[in-house]
Amino acid sequence: MKICVLYGGTSAEREVSLSSGKGIIEALKKKNHEVIGIDFKGTKECLQKIMNLDVDIFFIGLHGRLGEDGRVQGLLDLVNIPYVGSNVLGSALAMDKARSKKMFALKGIRVACEKLVEKHAFVEEQFSHELSYPVVVKPNHEGSTIGLTIAQNEEELLGGIKAAFAHDDVVLLEEFISGREVTVAVMGNKGEVKALPVVEIVPKNAYYDYESKYAPGMSEHIVPARVSEEVTKLLQEQAVLAHASLGCDIYSRVDFIVPSDGTAPVILEVNTLPGMTPTSLYPDAAREIGLSYDDMIEKLVQLSLQ
Ligand code: DAL
Ligand code: MG
Repeated sequence: MKICVLYGGTSAEREVSLSSGKGIIEALKKKNHEVIGIDFKGTKECLQKIMNLDVDIFFIGLHGRLGEDGRVQGLLDLVNIPYVGSNVLGSALAMDKARSKKMFALKGIRVACEKLVEKHAFVEEQFSHELSYPVVVKPNHEGSTIGLTIAQNEEELLGGIKAAFAHDDVVLLEEFISGREVTVAVMGNKGEVKALPVVEIVPKNAYYDYESKYAPGMSEHIVPARVSEEVTKLLQEQAVLAHASLGCDIYSRVDFIVPSDGTAPVILEVNTLPGMTPTSLYPDAAREIGLSYDDMIEKLVQLSLQ
């Protein structure tokens, strides 16, 4: 098959995507596909190149805005070329953490208490909230914990909000939930969607920050996660439910916290183009069901063409 891989891009997760893209391209070549890789900068020249390509399918290896958020998916819909992964709506909803949380809550999945702060309405002197500390401050449309702060007090909170505004006009504040950080890879097409084994993340740093995510050896991935069978089943059911609630397709990775006080798991978000780097979680989950990295990439392509 002739496959175009889009990678790189212009988002804050560019470096992550360069690594995912490299892995995806190498895997597809090993599977004897003819591969065209494009560093997707979104320029007129780049768009023209894509519109004129004659390929069987696109594999979008981009992360973050202008790649994972539905805009590239819309472009490919316009030229009527299939791509691996979720459609415009699922991608766009998942990129908006606050809106996607509303969908999860409608399905009965527990979400963290939150407050949204919009840049245009933010007045530091008048700012108030009812959340208990610590408070997690994150840009509403960002990935890989970029721009994230865990604030222990008001000073850190205000500093965190301002830091997050450098990345996004909308900032999400959430009560910090202490517990195990776990993630569930979801795979399948309209015919059958399944959850892969639950992966637990044990970062070397205080939390699963950018360094813990991408520097080799900075976090341990434990599969299956050290949670009861009952919680495992619940996480897997809720991951599939969350994926479906946004209208996602082919694959996603759903992040949760399993609280240490024994209460219900709290969903953090759905990632529609999860990282495919050497330290990423989705490939680890796939390995658990017997899919090597290369087989996993091939499987995602096949599922998209069925
Ligand atoms: N946003 C990164 C790529 C992930 O979820 O894996
Ligand atoms: Mg994410």
